Amino acid sequence: MASAIESLGKQAMKTFCDRRFCQKNLDKLLNLINKITAEDVKLDKNILDYVSRQPAPMCVMDIFENKDITIAIFILKHGVKMPMHDHPEMHGLLKVISGMVELSSYSLKTKSNHVIKAKEEIAAVKHRPICLHSNSPACIFTPIEKNLHEISCVEGPAAFLDILSPPYDVDEFGKGTRPCTFFKTVKSKLYTESIDIIEEVQLSVVENLPDFYSTSLDYMGPPLRN
Ligand SMILES: [Fe+2]
Repeated sequence: MASAIESLGKQAMKTFCDRRFCQKNLDKLLNLINKITAEDVKLDKNILDYVSRQPAPMCVMDIFENKDITIAIFILKHGVKMPMHDHPEMHGLLKVISGMVELSSYSLKTKSNHVIKAKEEIAAVKHRPICLHSNSPACIFTPIEKNLHEISCVEGPAAFLDILSPPYDVDEFGKGTRPCTFFKTVKSKLYTESIDIIEEVQLSVVENLPDFYSTSLDYMGPPLRN
């Protein structure tokens, strides 16, 4: 019988194959990812202890990538904040499997395909932050809704499984058709007309983040194949 992570991988490939997905496949995928545990991906106390001891604020375990999807586990050290970043033209699912994080998501007011220039300010809304732990359901973002987020580790180390579709597309210098851009808030105004949206903000691009980097760790769980 296929392991939980293999079933999840198969369903992710089916859901995002050729980028034409239907709600039924996405619902099945959500159902599977919501059941994934740290044990299913062989993430144990030794690995979490190692993450706490090593110097990088974040460790990444790559599980699988093909032309349609990336599956990886991100492990943040206690107190670390993964800075605000985007996922251009991508869908994503995020499921916490250990520890606790606070997820703050943002939606851009500008339409997609807009190339963001270095000094430009862009308008966005900030959604109400949510705390996620291993019993919380997965969060979803789309090319438009909640496509930017920052993730703080409030009880760590905290690990989450991430499925992205399509993958980021960059070369070794970080340049390509779907790069990951980091942002900071330059202005914010309280927004009181919605329960979900708490602020209207102006964001600008951050060119370098000397305090934030990651190191890779070997994934020890069941391997995924195409
Ligand atoms: Fe992200």
